[in-house]
Amino acid sequence: MANKNLNAAKTAKKDEFYTQMSDIEMELQHYWQHFHDKVVLCNCDDPYESNFFKYFALHFNHLGLKKLICTCYNGSPIQGDELTLSFDFGDEEPKKIAHKVVITEVKDLNGDGAVDLSDVRILLQNDKNVLSTLETGDFRSKECIELLKEADIVVTNPPFSLFREYIAQLMEYEKKFLIIGNVNAITYKEVFPLIMNNKVWFGPSISSGDRKFNVPIDYPLNAAGCGIDSNGKRFIRVKGVRWFTNLDHKKRHEELDLVCRYSPEEYPTYENYDAIEVSKTSDIPYDYSGAMGVPITFLDKYNPEQFEIIGQTQGDSGKELGLRPYDRALKKYNKSLRDGQLYYMKNGIPEKPYARVLIRNKYPRL
Ligand SMILES: C[S@@+](CC[C@H](N)C(=O)[O-])C[C@H]1O[C@@H](n2cnc3c(N)ncnc32)[C@H](O)[C@@H]1O
Repeated sequence: MANKNLNAAKTAKKDEFYTQMSDIEMELQHYWQHFHDKVVLCNCDDPYESNFFKYFALHFNHLGLKKLICTCYNGSPIQGDELTLSFDFGDEEPKKIAHKVVITEVKDLNGDGAVDLSDVRILLQNDKNVLSTLETGDFRSKECIELLKEADIVVTNPPFSLFREYIAQLMEYEKKFLIIGNVNAITYKEVFPLIMNNKVWFGPSISSGDRKFNVPIDYPLNAAGCGIDSNGKRFIRVKGVRWFTNLDHKKRHEELDLVCRYSPEEYPTYENYDAIEVSKTSDIPYDYSGAMGVPITFLDKYNPEQFEIIGQTQGDSGKELGLRPYDRALKKYNKSLRDGQLYYMKNGIPEKPYARVLIRNKYPRL
């Protein structure tokens, strides 16, 4: 039990990293048209620290928001300057008191434009804006679900360790959303069907490399690229970050330019599924009408008018797709062969590609 608690605490700690304003700005610029007269909820965000809260407070009037609700979880550690909202935890690490801030009016109070409209204290001088405590601030709690019901669009970076539950809840309440997650989440059995059925897709601003996130003072900085910036803030770099959304944007309707021609020599056919292996998205042939296995990063370029998604082969999903059992005699060449995973032959040796999404070109140029 003690071990279980320790592991849970470790996972919770890993969830503590904070999104940069520049990343929020780069993505949000693609969606301004969706926000007019809408209630926005940031439900994994301490308003005193979250750049999501700051972004929406600063752009409240430009976006024409009706309301901004931001909730803070009582499991989050104390980071910044809101010690007035903490209390004595004895020897335990101090934790935040769960609370919510509801903003319905943002005014430049002294009219000189110098007021930082993202400052919660200043926003709360307006009687129309309210801070109140919550029981836990857990996005799954009853009171937070009531706030979710009221919201039109949810925008945040939720804890990665709870991503499955988090997105399932958004779908259950039929909410529009724009959230940060890890690219590998698309292979989750709860998430992939949403991608395949065009209920969720990637946002346009992050499609490769890593992103910088600020972290608490006790977060280990032992990976490459971590450090302390010129303002003394600690940061880590996280690979594979993506925006997941069901808000439409222009890029997902742009056609992927296909320049390669199909040949059986260059595109091996899988031994256990009727599809060809395409190891790079840029190599998708323009003249192939059958199924193709492509890397999951294809989804950064996915246009639902151009391609159909048939399935994926991570975990058990290969079995669901009807992959044939592998030839047991080949085990001697590749000990990691397993049923439910794609493989093809190269020079008489079975090759197993990394996670693949199976797609079909809707309009091949034959
Ligand atoms: C990846 S961090 C991102 C924080 C903030 N949204 C941002 O982008 O800067 C996830 C946050 O969710 C909080 N959190 C963890 N479990 C939660 C829960 N069950 N309900 C609500 N928030 C939670 C964590 O304390 C953490 O601050």
